[in-house]
Amino acid sequence: MGRTDNNEQITKNRGIKNTVRAVISETIGFDRLGAGCMLAVFCSLETDMAKIVAFVNQKGGVGKTTSTINVARSLADLGKRVLLVDLDPQGNASSGLGIDPRGIEKNLYHAMIGTLSSQEIVLSTNVPRLHIIPAAQDLAGAEIEMVHIDAREFRLYTVLRPLRSFYDYILIDSPPSLGLLTVNGLVASDEVVIPVQTEYYALEGLSQLLGTIELVRERLQPNLKIMGALLTLFDRRNRLAQQVVNEVRAHFPGPVFETVIPRSVRLAEAPSYGKSILDFDAFSKGARAYKSVAREIVETEKKA
Ligand SMILES: Nc1ncnc2c1ncn2[C@@H]1O[C@H](COP(=O)(O)OP(=O)(O)OP(=O)(O)O)[C@@H](O)[C@H]1O
Ligand SMILES: [Mg+2]
Repeated sequence: MGRTDNNEQITKNRGIKNTVRAVISETIGFDRLGAGCMLAVFCSLETDMAKIVAFVNQKGGVGKTTSTINVARSLADLGKRVLLVDLDPQGNASSGLGIDPRGIEKNLYHAMIGTLSSQEIVLSTNVPRLHIIPAAQDLAGAEIEMVHIDAREFRLYTVLRPLRSFYDYILIDSPPSLGLLTVNGLVASDEVVIPVQTEYYALEGLSQLLGTIELVRERLQPNLKIMGALLTLFDRRNRLAQQVVNEVRAHFPGPVFETVIPRSVRLAEAPSYGKSILDFDAFSKGARAYKSVAREIVETEKKA
């Protein structure tokens, strides 16, 4: 099939898919993900699957969660259907979007160890087009329990597979380690975003992360790509900050996002209100920066 034929086929499939989605949305509502038959209809008709992107850095506090939440929110703002997966037992992405991990019974743990179906753990949020799979402390137990089960690196992949056709993007917020949960995130993903704090030792520790990504690519997910390093917590009053940005651009062995995320009090405050920065302070520099990252992601896809 030639490129034009292929494009025609994709356009046709999208047409069918949109019609089916419209009918289903009208009848039972897109947010009610419970119906397995609905999934079956979607799966058989959709050819364009969500792009799955993991936000990974084993270093703590570099802006993984802040970036995952706000990029997810910004992609939804661009009209994309987005699922945020909280893969961190700390549950920061869940609480940052207003979900109290202690107040929910079902979370990612229950699907990863196999007792609940994927659809049963998806929640809608206050933001249109943005859904979340929450995490809670018991996910830390999954890391230990999984050691003894078959295909343990593919548990998240298996959880996300039936959901892929519902979304344009699935973003995964990873814990600050390179353990089995993070490896599950990498195996389930098409691409990786590496948030890098704009500080003097920015590149330190990245070789270990890049090594892990390489191993996953060799043994488990050969198509895994690095989407880019994302510079975060940039403090323009710090004389060294611009130098660090230049260093990372010169030496990071992969793409680096054009957008640099500024250090901003508003970005740090938003999660305590259970809101993304777009909902907390839409015109702040943090909101503008994350919207710009989302545009870069969508634009890159158009060029590919
Ligand atoms: N651009 C920013 N400006 C100001 N504060 C920020 C910014 N980005 C993140 N923070 C704050 O820094 C702290 C760490 O950020 P975040 O939780 O996103 O990092 P993380 O990499 O997910 O951390 P962990 O490794 O613990 O999961 C949080 O308190 C967050 O609110
Ligand atoms: Mg985090």
